[in-house]
Amino acid sequence: MSGVTQDRWAAWFLHRRHGGDPEELRRTLEYLAPIRDRVIAGAQLTEGDTILDVGCGDGLIAFRAAEVVGTSGMVIFSDISAELLDRCRMLADEVELADRCQYVRAAARDLGPIENASIDAVTMRSVLIYEQDKSAAFAEAHRVLRPGGRLSLFEPINRFGYPEPPGRFMGADVRPVVELAAKVRAVYETIQPSNSDPMVNFDERDLIHLAQEAGFAEIHLQLYVDIGRRKPMAWETFLNRAGNPRIPTLREAMAQALTLEEADHLSTRLRPQIEAGTARDSLAVAYLSASRSTEQP
Ligand SMILES: C[S@@+](CC[C@H](N)C(=O)[O-])C[C@H]1O[C@@H](n2cnc3c(N)ncnc32)[C@H](O)[C@@H]1O
Repeated sequence: MSGVTQDRWAAWFLHRRHGGDPEELRRTLEYLAPIRDRVIAGAQLTEGDTILDVGCGDGLIAFRAAEVVGTSGMVIFSDISAELLDRCRMLADEVELADRCQYVRAAARDLGPIENASIDAVTMRSVLIYEQDKSAAFAEAHRVLRPGGRLSLFEPINRFGYPEPPGRFMGADVRPVVELAAKVRAVYETIQPSNSDPMVNFDERDLIHLAQEAGFAEIHLQLYVDIGRRKPMAWETFLNRAGNPRIPTLREAMAQALTLEEADHLSTRLRPQIEAGTARDSLAVAYLSASRSTEQP
């Protein structure tokens, strides 16, 4: 895939989320492995199942699920990014899975091409955070599941610890340069207003409520909260990564909001905290699993 033709999802997913740093990518995948396994466990897959992975990215969940459902099972990769679906198709061909994989380009809020009650399990990892119509996404998951089918998802609860107090920026103590940090923060806030952006406008209670409203019969949710320190990171990587596909990297945001001298000043404050791992980290995530009633509608 060429960098020029990549859509913004593919570009972020395959490059900007880890700042192009292979070590950071390795760490990301290491962090995600137990999350993947948890999502799959929540889906209670058995051999022969048909599983739909909504917002599949490059197949983190779907390829592992393919191992669990075995040669008699079927995996449907679904995403809004044609390029990420192409990548999954290429990877599936490489590992000779092609005959039990399907690819559907669709948004979580409208899984139109997928038939009613045709799926044993729906999985999603970090997809609802990008979906404005979460209610429709739950309704669609419910619609495509057969009676007794399971939904298993993982979502960051970004509302937790956000917005940061003025003296903190990306976890670092910026009290001596609070005005510079505020200018950069404004770049992000304009793109993702904290009161309306789909990444930050929900919490774990909303997820439960949405699942109930969609008609799910049994619902389980676990919330994990971690408050601590950010892991040390190379400064160049920190500058070059973007938290999600819609926002600029820190380097780009500083270039937009600050003079060269101001950017230098803010960097001098941030850099030692990022490199030493003394910046704060506060994180909340939720795992939700739910099943569709076994009674026919
Ligand atoms: C953070 S990535 C997660 C990818 C994958 N689930 C994983 O666990 O690695 C989010 C994915 O959701 C897709 N996506 C974004 N908005 C979506 C939407 N409204 N409906 C379905 N997929 C969406 C993106 O293209 C991207 O592949």
